[in-house]
Amino acid sequence: MDDDEIAMISKEGCIFYDFDGNRHEKESMHLDWEAAMTSRGGYPHFMLKEIHEQPDVVAHTLLGRVASNSVDLSHELAWTPEQISGWKKIHFVACGTSHYATMVAARIMEEVGNFEIRTEVASEYRYRNIPIGPDTLAVFVSQSGETADTLHAARLAKAKGAKCLVVTNVRGSTIHREVEEGLITPAGPEIGVAATKTFMAQITVLTLLGLYLSKLKNDLCPETEQRIVAALMDIPAKLASILDREKEIEAVARNFADARGFFFIGRGLAYPPALEGALKLKEISYLHAEAYPAGEMKHGPIALLDKDLPVVALVPKNDLWEKTISNIEESMARNSPIIAVATEGDSDIGHYSKNVIFTPETEPELFPFIAVLPLQLFAYYIARQRGCDIDMPRNLAKSVTVE
Ligand code: BG6
Repeated sequence: MDDDEIAMISKEGCIFYDFDGNRHEKESMHLDWEAAMTSRGGYPHFMLKEIHEQPDVVAHTLLGRVASNSVDLSHELAWTPEQISGWKKIHFVACGTSHYATMVAARIMEEVGNFEIRTEVASEYRYRNIPIGPDTLAVFVSQSGETADTLHAARLAKAKGAKCLVVTNVRGSTIHREVEEGLITPAGPEIGVAATKTFMAQITVLTLLGLYLSKLKNDLCPETEQRIVAALMDIPAKLASILDREKEIEAVARNFADARGFFFIGRGLAYPPALEGALKLKEISYLHAEAYPAGEMKHGPIALLDKDLPVVALVPKNDLWEKTISNIEESMARNSPIIAVATEGDSDIGHYSKNVIFTPETEPELFPFIAVLPLQLFAYYIARQRGCDIDMPRNLAKSVTVE
């Protein structure tokens, strides 16, 4: 239904009117969702089921958008290089987990192209005087397509002449209807209030969008495209291998179910998954958890560290490994227990943490895909140990359609 409509539903069907009694004709739309998707499928919680669906969700999201290690969105986005050359800046606008998905996208796009990007939460974007105009590509990310702040931010950008695009999980949602172009994340209905599989689908689509934009701008070197697309194609199997280690992750989580709070730290591409991991823990276990760029700890937060405040450190074996290790050592010196999300084969990390969650190697740009799944499970098993209502956490809604 559109705003200001009335529907009369009977066994003959459905008739739509406006408030003046004028009948509205509607086109029917096929939603490729089945009823079975909304059952728990034998899992104790929808959230756990949806965490386990992520390998298939990534594979499904890639379908039809990559071929022989190259990306092609031309059948969804009728964009020309001339159009794209006119978009001098990119705005990513979203809320909650979707905002963290855009932060992943921005960091990956920085690596693969020459972009001027800003990521803003919608409730800020719509009330600040941010320069927006025809030179702006404004991308709105919302799994529900109904979040009020994101909807109003999209209306603002559209009114200011920006080129608008929505990335959403719900075809025909309000934002999808109002924004002229959209990319659908085919994650299926997400019942758990805390987003998991839709985040994974969002970062998959946004990575493809970044590669596609960079290619149309002639900024993308073919080797980079092939390297990253090939690695994306391997992500489903890598996520499945992490799920095979679920019991190890559960054991680490149960060691910390009584903590009074957590820090999550990471550098570069490890920072957005740290933010998402902290949010998951807050949402479903009601424990305080704060994410910080690892290099920022010494500028204040480190004052909070002691033996009762564990630090979850995302420390992939990449060019920032030594820097992150030094932040881990700072935390150890304040007696904080360390939980490390590290790369398989990292033989040194054991010197810094007794609670290591090993993750499979991937291309540096795709570490967020690998890091976020263990953190979802970490939050899930702590919440479960604490007896929280995981699928329907207190005070939260699946979609906030009011300000
Ligand atoms: C919150 C949800 O209400 O809205 C979060 O609890 C979600 O999980 C956020 O990330 C944004 O929702 P959406 O639908 O705009 O992605």
